[in-house]
Amino acid sequence: MSRRRLPADRTDDARGDAQSARADDADVEVDNPWFARLYSKVPLMERLFAPHRAYLARELSGRVLDVGAGDGGMFEPVREHGGDDLEYHAVEPDPNMRERAIERARGVGMPVDIRDARAEALPYPEDSFDVVLSSVVFCTVQDPERAVDEVARVLKPGGEFRFFEHVRADGWRERGQDLCNPVWKRVAAGCNVNRPTVERFVSHEAFDPIDLERVRVGAFPASPFVRGRLHRRR
Ligand SMILES: C[S@@+](CC[C@H](N)C(=O)[O-])C[C@H]1O[C@@H](n2cnc3c(N)ncnc32)[C@H](O)[C@@H]1O
Repeated sequence: MSRRRLPADRTDDARGDAQSARADDADVEVDNPWFARLYSKVPLMERLFAPHRAYLARELSGRVLDVGAGDGGMFEPVREHGGDDLEYHAVEPDPNMRERAIERARGVGMPVDIRDARAEALPYPEDSFDVVLSSVVFCTVQDPERAVDEVARVLKPGGEFRFFEHVRADGWRERGQDLCNPVWKRVAAGCNVNRPTVERFVSHEAFDPIDLERVRVGAFPASPFVRGRLHRRR
């Protein structure tokens, strides 16, 4: 799957050599016990994220894949706002998060097929899903270009990619993000604050935007957030 390239691509990976940054990151082990412990204990963040999780979950139906499901933050909203005919799948490479997600699925009473996999190598055949969800994941995946190719591959033609992500800012904030990113990435379990994620998505040849919205949540440097829905071309 190839993609149209935008000037914003050049800004990825803190303006460094995106190719070598990806090669370095590809071997990074995703195993962050302290991050998983902290992540599950920030009720304020969950309150702020709630309307956006509801947006992702609204009228979900069919086979759904939650990429980088973390500790299962989408499970309750999906239970509440999704349809009754759901078949829910999730991938999460961090064992600490995955364990929590399995517990959460049990608590919510929702059958979830949770697998140990990365977004860059989804363990499903092509055209497997009606909807793919990604919430606050493309900041952290080690190779976002491969990951978006994989999302396009596993989505059925006519399916939807729904996302909620923090992205590269503009003006002085953009420069500030580039400056903070090396430290932020170390302390926040590999999260990058300066990725042009929306440009990456909308420039992909497999997708047409249905809905893109900058939303008021988060704070510098992990802002702005954008939520959206993309249609998988037939
Ligand atoms: C900030 S958390 C978001 C979790 C969840 N999606 C949510 O909405 O709360 C980012 C998650 O991405 C996972 N992750 C890291 N690298 C990944 C990769 N290559 N593919 C898929 N998920 C990845 C992390 O382990 C972590 O659970």
